[in-house]
Amino acid sequence: MKYEQIAKEKFEKLKDKEIVRVLAIESSCDETSVAIVENGRTLLSNTIATQIEIHKRFGGVVPEVASRNHILAISNVTKESLNEAGLTFKDIDAIAVTYGAGLLGALLVGVNFAKSLAYSLELPLIKVSHVSGHISANYISHKDLKPPFACLMVSGGHTCILDVTGYTNFKIIGGTVDDSVGEGFDKVARVLGLSYPGGPIVDKLAKQGNANIVFTHKNSLKNEYNFSFSGIKTAVINYVHTKKQKGEEINIPDVCASYQTAVVNELITKLVRYAEEKQIKKLAVCGGVSANSFLKQELNKLANDKGIELYMPELKLCTDNAAMIASQAYFMIKEGKGLADLTLSARPTIDLKEFE
Ligand code: KG4
Ligand code: ZN
Repeated sequence: MKYEQIAKEKFEKLKDKEIVRVLAIESSCDETSVAIVENGRTLLSNTIATQIEIHKRFGGVVPEVASRNHILAISNVTKESLNEAGLTFKDIDAIAVTYGAGLLGALLVGVNFAKSLAYSLELPLIKVSHVSGHISANYISHKDLKPPFACLMVSGGHTCILDVTGYTNFKIIGGTVDDSVGEGFDKVARVLGLSYPGGPIVDKLAKQGNANIVFTHKNSLKNEYNFSFSGIKTAVINYVHTKKQKGEEINIPDVCASYQTAVVNELITKLVRYAEEKQIKKLAVCGGVSANSFLKQELNKLANDKGIELYMPELKLCTDNAAMIASQAYFMIKEGKGLADLTLSARPTIDLKEFE
């Protein structure tokens, strides 16, 4: 029998199988991660090899360097993940992989590795979008969370408000019209001469400063739930340049606190608008920027004020990881979605309308 036929038959059987273990691969940016998750919610392993130290010296992720390092790491990360779970390939029911969105060369490493594994182990191959994965991280951290709920996605790649209508479906309510929120944090950090990734450093320094500088930006967005961050970033850049030109000292903690406040206000204003308008009762947050302490504080306030149940994944599931991909693959399998063949390739962008 041909691989495709075997994979299809196995895929169909998984719909009714009581215990489904998915091994997933994530390589869309600068983390090589392999994880094993049971029934979409139980984490058996989540091994992550981060390249942060390598990219730090460049002040950001260098795509070709990322691809080369994924190649070096991926086999060992897979072995480690199986060891961590105390399992062998015989215990795995399906292979899942992030096929987009992300850096093309980086994604290709994961996609090709996943295809080879699926083919040689004669297992179904499930293609998962990175954005769906970030939402799914919440199902691992919160065993009782079920759609529908609203979701705020704040990562290095995406910033949007989503209406999560099912385990594998969501609708975009609003999104950024320019930078993503994580991108903004990283750029501002670079302007201030701070290290990469900037978000956690800006967050830490902001605690020592006062939000006493007003970084104004014009906001004339057509969609009332859309975000704009580049104006705030430009205001910071202009402020820093002017100070330098005048030879004046820059109070970095104050700049961090002021920038962070402006950005979080932009997020919270739109979120409050949506929450009030749609009478939101459940809100999940996902993506790397959900680690931000000021954002967390403001989200908690919003949840208390409006009587909203707030869900956030634990920190290691907020940033890029393969566990979220394995979780999403499980729900796709149960809905008969996502089976890929060996022609699968990577996609640098994916139109999120596909998931409505
Ligand atoms: O979700 P993620 O791991 O990667 C993408 O899918 O893009 O998010 C990474 C982003 C980076 O821009 C990083 O600076 C930001 O999350 N980040 C933070 C914090 N921790 C990570 N931003 C603000 N405050 C933090 N504490
Ligand atoms: Zn991500």
